[in-house]
Amino acid sequence: MKKTKVSVIGAGKVGENVAYLLTTLGLCDVYIFARYREGLEPAKAKALDLKQMAVLMDLDIDVKGISYDKEGFEELKDSHVVVITAGIPRKEGMSREDLLYQNLKILKRFTDAIKEYAQNSIIIVVSNPVDTLTYITLKLTGFDHRKVIGMAGVLDSARFKSFVKEKLNVSNADIRTLVMGTHGDLMVPVMSHSFIGDKPIEEVFKAKEIDELIERTRKGGAQIVSLMGTSAYYAPAASVIRMVEAIINDRKRVIPCSVYLTGEIAKHYEAEDLCIGIPVVLGKKGVEDYELVNLSGYEKREFLKSVESLKGMIKIADNLLKEI
Ligand code: LAC
Repeated sequence: MKKTKVSVIGAGKVGENVAYLLTTLGLCDVYIFARYREGLEPAKAKALDLKQMAVLMDLDIDVKGISYDKEGFEELKDSHVVVITAGIPRKEGMSREDLLYQNLKILKRFTDAIKEYAQNSIIIVVSNPVDTLTYITLKLTGFDHRKVIGMAGVLDSARFKSFVKEKLNVSNADIRTLVMGTHGDLMVPVMSHSFIGDKPIEEVFKAKEIDELIERTRKGGAQIVSLMGTSAYYAPAASVIRMVEAIINDRKRVIPCSVYLTGEIAKHYEAEDLCIGIPVVLGKKGVEDYELVNLSGYEKREFLKSVESLKGMIKIADNLLKEI
């Protein structure tokens, strides 16, 4: 049987941690694509290091590094999943949206390569602004919309959960949190579908505490940027792993992701022709089903604010693409 192959484009902090975690799991061959810079080949160096680590762990997988400026993207062929992490990260004072122009330019190169060499892959987009770049990836590749998925809700839900956990003496396993909408300041922590054990979270916390949790969750990424000067990578990488694992092991896991809304799903969420965070079922075909969450009146209004801001971003991205 052919080995499962996962390709990671970009060997910055998120990319290298995705490659690292994938290697430790020993589930698949790992291909790392990065730039060749001033005589240095970080993709090759990191792949060698990880391969030697895999040997130490008795894992029979291959790890390969490709300097794509020199070698191109042919090695993307037969990838089951391609994870796009390349792009400039956020610095202090920047929003994820500020990254749009730079990251669009970078993205175009990858979508051309994926179209050429990895027609049958499932793409996970991590680069920011993720909802807009997921949409653009879908348009530029022309892939089935179930096979182009943005990583966001799983990370934001984990951040929300960690803030809940700080306030309660209860196992992480018994806290269930959901964040929907955009991966930005307008994200929607969905209290009506978040639980501590069997209790709705709104029965456990006072209104003021709930407001604080919403605020902390929305600022979760920015807090790390302001402490470190650049954006997070351990939890973002672990979020990607949850998605990749669900796909390659055909787990049918319900995971909030940024996905394209169309048909009945679009009607339910009153949002058409854009990618936004909702819970979906991930399996070997990519997005195998969509959850129709019944949001409360307040949550729905907040979700629609997300939708409006995304529509504006997509318009800007479409215009920028004409210049690229
Ligand atoms: C963050 C990046 C991955 O939220 O957007 O940390």
